[in-house]
Amino acid sequence: MYSTVVITGASSGFGEAFAQHLAAKCEHMVLIARSEDKLRTMAADLSNRCNTQVEVIPCDLSDAQARAALTERLQQINGSKLLLINNAGLGDYGEFCSSSPTTNRMLMEVNMTAPVELTRAMLPAMLQAETAHIINIASLAADLAIPDFAMYAASKAFVASFSEALRLELAKTNIHVTAVCPGPVHTNFGEVARRTGKSKKEVPFRKWFYTTIPCVVESALSAVQKNKPRCYPSFKIRLAGLFVRNAPLWLLRMIMGTRPRRAVPTT
Ligand SMILES: NC(=O)c1ccc[n+]([C@@H]2O[C@H](COP(=O)([O-])OP(=O)(O)OC[C@H]3O[C@@H](n4cnc5c(N)ncnc54)[C@H](OP(=O)(O)O)[C@@H]3O)[C@@H](O)[C@H]2O)c1
Repeated sequence: MYSTVVITGASSGFGEAFAQHLAAKCEHMVLIARSEDKLRTMAADLSNRCNTQVEVIPCDLSDAQARAALTERLQQINGSKLLLINNAGLGDYGEFCSSSPTTNRMLMEVNMTAPVELTRAMLPAMLQAETAHIINIASLAADLAIPDFAMYAASKAFVASFSEALRLELAKTNIHVTAVCPGPVHTNFGEVARRTGKSKKEVPFRKWFYTTIPCVVESALSAVQKNKPRCYPSFKIRLAGLFVRNAPLWLLRMIMGTRPRRAVPTT
C-alpha cells in the first residue's frame, strides 16, 4: 500500500493504466497531464470505486512555469511509502532535418526535463520515507540510435542513463529506481508522434514486437518492487534488449542504416 502515488501522463495509455491498477493500492494519488476533463472524470471514478483520495494537477510539462508550480506542490508531499512514475512522453516520427524546432523543444522538456525536475522535487521526502519507488518510463529505443526517430531515441537514452546513475547514488537508501524499456504498444503515442499528412506506414518487422499495456504496467510494478534497475516488458522485448545491448556498434549501425525508412530526406 503506497501513501502517495504520483503519475505523469495519467490521461491515457500507460499512465491511465497505472492509475487504474494502483488506485486500490494507495491512499492518495496525484494525476498529472494536460487533459484536465479526462483526469477529473478518472479521478471521480477512481475515488468512488477505490475510496482513494485522487488529486488532479492539470499541467503542461513542456512549460517551465507550469512545471515550477507543479514541483512546488510535489515538494509538500510526504508519507511512509511513495511512488513517482515519470511516464509522460511524446515522439516525433520523421527525419530530423524537417522537424519542427517547437516540437523538438517540447519533446526535450517533457521527456527529459520534467522527469529530472519532478524527481528532484520529491527526493527529500523520499529519503525520509520508509520506502520510495521511482519508475522512469524509457523505451527499448533508449539502447538504439534510430533514424527518423532521432530526438525520441536520444531522449530515452537520457532517461535510462539518468535512472542508472541515480540508482547507484541511492543504492544505500530506501529508494528503488527502475527504468522501464517497453517496445511498441498500441496507445495514442503513434498518433501523437505522426506528423501531419504522413501515412500510417509501419516498419514491417515492428509488428512482431508489440506488447500490451497491462504487460508493461504489471512488469514495471513488479520490477520496482524487486529493485531491478531495468525492465523490458515481455519475453520478446527482453530478447531484443539483450541483443541490442550486446551487439557491437558497427553491427547496430549496419542494421539501423539499412532499416526501411519512414521518410526519405527531401532536398
Ligand atoms: N506506446 C509505445 O509504443 C511506447 C513504447 C515505449 C515507451 N513509451 C513511452 O511510454 C510513455 C507513455 O506513452 P503512451 O504510450 O502511454 O502514450 P500516450 O497514450 O500518448 O500517453 C502520453 C501521456 O503523456 C501526456 N503528455 C504528453 N505531452 C504532455 C505535456 N506536454 N504535458 C503533460 N503531459 C503530457 C499525455 O497527456 P495529455 O495529452 O493529456 O497532456 C498522455 O497522458 C511515454 O514516455 C512514451 O515515450 C511508449
